[in-house]
Amino acid sequence: MEPVEVDAGRVRLRRWRVEDADAVLTALRDPVLQLWNGVPATTRDDAVDFVRRRADWSAGDHASWAVADAGTGVLLGSVSLHSVDRQQANAQVGYWTVPAARGRGVAPCAVDAACRWAFAGLSIERVELCHAVDNPASGRVAAKAGFTLEGRLRASYRYGDGRKHDELIWGRLAADPPPGLSS
Ligand SMILES: CC(C)(COP(=O)(O)OP(=O)(O)OC[C@H]1O[C@@H](n2cnc3c(N)ncnc32)[C@H](O)[C@@H]1OP(=O)(O)O)[C@@H](O)C(=O)NCCC(=O)NCCS
Repeated sequence: MEPVEVDAGRVRLRRWRVEDADAVLTALRDPVLQLWNGVPATTRDDAVDFVRRRADWSAGDHASWAVADAGTGVLLGSVSLHSVDRQQANAQVGYWTVPAARGRGVAPCAVDAACRWAFAGLSIERVELCHAVDNPASGRVAAKAGFTLEGRLRASYRYGDGRKHDELIWGRLAADPPPGLSS
């Protein structure tokens, strides 16, 4: 796959650039992000590696974007469709926002835009989203981005605290009604 950019009203999903590394390093040092995204990046080289891997879509199994403010271009977060399986027409979505951008609906907007692009551009039929039961803010993102809660996975994923947490699994189908997000 070749990287594409997606306009989503007040946010823009754009390709990651090496120049994002300093902002990424700051973001990845946020303890809440380290806990729930489990990204063990602590050095600038880790951050450069993070953006390089996400800017390279050639493997065909992920589509990853920097989430930027559409007006200022400031980096607000990250959204990624991963485990893309074209045969099954399934994908999973992961995301985070920088602490200063939280509570403004950035992640739901970015996740919704990524889903719409996957449905239209990749003919994906189902996007899955999992988050720890102990991370209800992420569940709010799922609900606001048009996902339906489907169940609870017991001790299913080891998070940044080294513990296996129960997770909630949500799904959004291409045929589901899109969420009514304000842009
Ligand atoms: C979870 C996360 C992605 C939400 O992103 P966001 O852009 O703030 O999304 P929203 O603005 O829709 O807020 C979602 C919920 O976060 C909580 N929230 C609101 N303001 C907040 C703030 N300033 N700081 C932290 N959480 C806040 C609220 O519960 C909110 O739900 P509500 O709108 O029903 O009140 C973001 O908090 C984050 O990056 N957290 C750390 C990493 C993480 O959890 N990643 C997801 C792993 S599955």
